[in-house]
Amino acid sequence: KKIALVTGGFSGEAVVSLKSAAVVEKTIDRNRYDIYKILIYPNDWHHQTASGEKVPVDLNDFSITLAGEKITFDGVFNILHGSPGEDGKLAGYFDMVGIPYTTCDALTSAITMNKGYTKAIVHDIPELFVARSIQLFQNKVENLERIQKELRLPLFVKPNNGGSSIGMSKVKTPNELKEALDKAFAEDDQVLVEEFVSGREFSIGVYHAQGKTTVLPATEIVSSKEFFDFEAKYSPGVTEEITPGRMSEEEVNRVNRIIAQVYQKLNCKGAVRIDYFLEHETGKFYFIEINTVPGQTETSLISQQVRAIGMEVKEFYTELIEEMFS
Ligand code: DAL
Ligand code: MG
Repeated sequence: KKIALVTGGFSGEAVVSLKSAAVVEKTIDRNRYDIYKILIYPNDWHHQTASGEKVPVDLNDFSITLAGEKITFDGVFNILHGSPGEDGKLAGYFDMVGIPYTTCDALTSAITMNKGYTKAIVHDIPELFVARSIQLFQNKVENLERIQKELRLPLFVKPNNGGSSIGMSKVKTPNELKEALDKAFAEDDQVLVEEFVSGREFSIGVYHAQGKTTVLPATEIVSSKEFFDFEAKYSPGVTEEITPGRMSEEEVNRVNRIIAQVYQKLNCKGAVRIDYFLEHETGKFYFIEINTVPGQTETSLISQQVRAIGMEVKEFYTELIEEMFS
């Protein structure tokens, strides 16, 4: 089968996507699939040949022409983080041209890209808690007062549709708030201001294939930095990542129950990764966010989790690809 490996993108996560694509490209089972890397940038969609030649994509049917031969794809392996791969725009396009893809549909992708709306949907799942937050649509001075009145420091300030912690700050004193809002609004026209939860941080992959939903073992993130920021995410050694994370049997069972419900309630497809805290004092599960195109770089968590269940990452990719055809 001919598979388009879709990468690049319009956001600051494009560099991460290229790294993920390189890992997927070299890991995928070449005996089963012919892989064509497609780079998507604003007004520039192209295939790059092995010799480095740029071949434009025909947007009418997502085809390319190589040596006079038109090539159409059986499916898309989507590894484009951020817009337009993770926010539903490409999903909508592929639905229109009739090509299956490995990730969530347009509606689920659009909702889950928005951290505030996602919390509004998952918050009533039993045993799941969300940190108190305010979703802002404008960078106005009045907001500073409202935040200080309604929320308790420390706070996380994040671009609401962002990823990889780009534009995100932890605010510990009131005078840091303005700068944090400016930084987040520079990345996005919506900003989420969220109360800090004091807890242990985890991230957990879940996917559906061969008729069953598999919750992978969670990774515990022990960061020496203030939070799991861009550098901590992508520089090997900056963060200690423990897979499977240290949780009691009760916690593992509870987390697995919650995760399966989040996946189902949001009607997810393919492999997603959910970030959460277990609060220190109470052990409560606090949902942070869901990533529907999780990173597959050398330091990424999902591959560690796949290996922890004794599965090869190559086989995992095969399952994701076959699932989109089922
Ligand atoms: N947004 C990054 C790629 C992740 O969640 O892995
Ligand atoms: Mg994310």
